[in-house]
Amino acid sequence: MAETENQNKAELQLNEQRQLVEMPSKAQQVMRQHMLEHLATLNQIIGLIAEDKLEKAASLAETKIGISSMGKQCAKTGMGPGLFMPPDMRQMGRRLHEASSEFARIAKEGDTKQAVAALQKVTTTCVACHYKYRIQ
Ligand code: HEC
Repeated sequence: MAETENQNKAELQLNEQRQLVEMPSKAQQVMRQHMLEHLATLNQIIGLIAEDKLEKAASLAETKIGISSMGKQCAKTGMGPGLFMPPDMRQMGRRLHEASSEFARIAKEGDTKQAVAALQKVTTTCVACHYKYRIQ
């Protein structure tokens, strides 16, 4: 009971610090879907790095999160979540895609340590945006 209360308090605090970005429910849905896919892709990339399959990790990063993955939803549905983001948030989104393409470029060179460092730049963008914004 007390634990649940504490959890709720912590949640509330985090919510108060984060800026609420309102978007239509369709756009929210698209965004959550992308987020889940990003998480799954990240998970796959880490596995591939561990198996020394850097080429594969690179192409996954580029096609699923990189610059070349951008804007497809927007063209398809007119409900790309980027349309509803304040400029700074959109910029953070853009940085995620850029960092992922940069990871792809570095991973292709075949140095695991550098690839991991580049991957951390990707996850840094996930963290930064999550600490700043919420959609509900
Ligand atoms: C441009 C900002 C931004 C970036 C970059 C970003 N996210 Fe998110 N993410 C959000 C917001 C906002 C939410 C919704 C939080 C809320 O519930 O209000 C979210 C939600 C999620 C969720 C929960 C989805 C659900 O089912 O509700 C996951 C998982 C997630 N993000 C993973 C990631 C991962 C992994 C990355 C990096 C590869 C990432 N995100 C990058 C803004 C971002």
